[in-house]
Amino acid sequence: MSKPAPKAPMARLDRLLANLGYGSRREVTDLVARRQVVLDGVVVQDSGAKVAIAADLPGRLTVSGQPLDPPAPLTILMHKPLDVVCSHREPGRSVYELLPHRWRARIPALSSIGRLDKDTSGLLLITDDGPFLHRVISPRSHVAKRYVATLDRPLTGAEAEVFAAGSLMLEGEKDPLAPAVLELLGPTQARLTITEGRYHQVRRMFAAVGNHVTALRRDRIGGLELSADLAPGAWRILTPDEQAAIFA
Ligand code: URA
Repeated sequence: MSKPAPKAPMARLDRLLANLGYGSRREVTDLVARRQVVLDGVVVQDSGAKVAIAADLPGRLTVSGQPLDPPAPLTILMHKPLDVVCSHREPGRSVYELLPHRWRARIPALSSIGRLDKDTSGLLLITDDGPFLHRVISPRSHVAKRYVATLDRPLTGAEAEVFAAGSLMLEGEKDPLAPAVLELLGPTQARLTITEGRYHQVRRMFAAVGNHVTALRRDRIGGLELSADLAPGAWRILTPDEQAAIFA
């Protein structure tokens, strides 16, 4: 027998809209009073009305004529471009500025799952789903991250063994790196798959074998690959199947 679908959680409309960044509780109450909120074709009269937060809500509820933003939990797959930072605090343009402006005021807040350096591009996940974030970064999940590195000097052929050994020590660290897999793509290009997320790890690994990374792109997280049709700076909402593929 198939399991019954879990019951959608209920929320007050004013709280839901405020948490999605549409304004303060007072501002969203005002939106309702100005007949800007419509549910199933009917103008909502009471900002304290309870609504079920189901996946189909954005198709049923409009705010100022536009479909409601996707409620939490929300996970975004982005092709991070160069020259943007992943941290809310670091100076410079951030990945959050590539998303709709209102989303910066969402509660729970969106955060990147791990970080890519300002000069690294590629697959980045951004989520407001705390348990999912922790599951992806937890060492127990063994989610591998794959990078394509372009190097300043030709590879010698010895790097793969050094990286696979599980004994490489990075400067200033107490523990050796877990084994990593290197595949050569050309004289100065390689694919590196790692299972940890230490600070500047890929650049420091190549520095440890006497080389220098001139370009770095992440193209895979677990079983999820960055598709060629997503241009740098573009993003989309991750589907439940893609979410599961990360751990496959
Ligand atoms: N390793 C790095 O050195 N930089 C990144 O952005 C990601 C992994």
